[in-house]
Amino acid sequence: MSSADIYRELILDYYRNPRNFGKLDKFDIDSRDTNPLCGDEIEMQIRVGDGKKIEEIKFVGKGCAISQASASMLTELAKGKPLEWVKEVSKEDVFKLLGNPDLGPSRVKCALLGMKVLKTGVYGYLGAHYEDQDGSDPMV
Ligand code: FES
Repeated sequence: MSSADIYRELILDYYRNPRNFGKLDKFDIDSRDTNPLCGDEIEMQIRVGDGKKIEEIKFVGKGCAISQASASMLTELAKGKPLEWVKEVSKEDVFKLLGNPDLGPSRVKCALLGMKVLKTGVYGYLGAHYEDQDGSDPMV
């Protein structure tokens, strides 16, 4: 079995048995987006814990194997990380999780949908909970 075959199997496994699939009862971040090319969508919910860490994260969605697998893999990677870590996540990180498959432009959008949802949600939260270096609220 080639490494491409192994990753193909892995993507299908995440698609059929998505990790962290579902909705949270309590959450601080709720973010969703749609792939404009196909209408498929992903929603992610995050509960933020002490130290602005991703305490819990789940997703729901419908779409192709690549979009659902990459979203699921990202939730696994994100759990327990500080929210600030999300700023560091790159396209290359997502491609690496998927085994660097040879993706055409439309499939790239599939692969990156989960990352877009994650970043949009976390950036919105960080913006709304911005604190100055000393921890004070700059709007007060
Ligand atoms: Fe719709 Fe991939 S075909 S997200």
